[in-house]
Amino acid sequence: MAQHSEGTVTATGKFLTLEGTEGVGKTTNLEFIRDWLQDRDVPLLVTREPGGTPLAEQLRELLLCKRDEKVDPVSELLMVFAARAQHLNTVIRPALEQGTWVLCDRFTDATYAYQGAGRGLSLSMIESLEQLVQQELRPDLTLVLDIDVEVGLARARARADLDRFESEQVAFFERVRGGYRARAEAAPQRYRLVDAGQPLEQVQEDIGQILEQLLGSKLGG
Ligand code: TMP
Repeated sequence: MAQHSEGTVTATGKFLTLEGTEGVGKTTNLEFIRDWLQDRDVPLLVTREPGGTPLAEQLRELLLCKRDEKVDPVSELLMVFAARAQHLNTVIRPALEQGTWVLCDRFTDATYAYQGAGRGLSLSMIESLEQLVQQELRPDLTLVLDIDVEVGLARARARADLDRFESEQVAFFERVRGGYRARAEAAPQRYRLVDAGQPLEQVQEDIGQILEQLLGSKLGG
């Protein structure tokens, strides 16, 4: 169950997020999770960050497009949270309140990993914005797909034009990966780290087991 600003706990849908570095197989596994839940008649909304509303999708374009001007990390952080406030308050919260589960492709753990560990912004700055925008709302379960950075980047770079983030150096993604792993280790009740370097069948078997536990309410809020 998700907690709301007043600290009350209501019978809401569960809030699931999927995270990982570039080329980790997020899209394929998001579809797997969607199908798995829908096959079990779970009412589900699938969405993504940055994005998920027209305004937030425009902010996403601003964030991802390559530009000559150097983007200030704090400016980047504020754009991420501007998009998140819109998405959370107009899409995610209303869905959860109606009992719909929300599966979100990235959320605030990406901010801790990319803007925090990656760009070097302080934890306290991110925590302040998280509190401001989300109040007490946190995902019930976060799946972190984990893969060797070079392997993931080779996949990402093979498939399309690189966006502003994908164009970063290996060292940046090593920090991002480290950020995700550290968060997953610090709060094992909320995170599940999945070895995404395994064959896809095995990855999805692992994810299926985690979802079984969640559905049986042994995991999450
Ligand atoms: P995607 O291509 O995996 O959908 O994500 C878009 C990019 O946005 C990805 O490179 C990570 C980045 N990002 C952040 O830097 N901070 C955030 O809070 C989020 C949600 C995404």
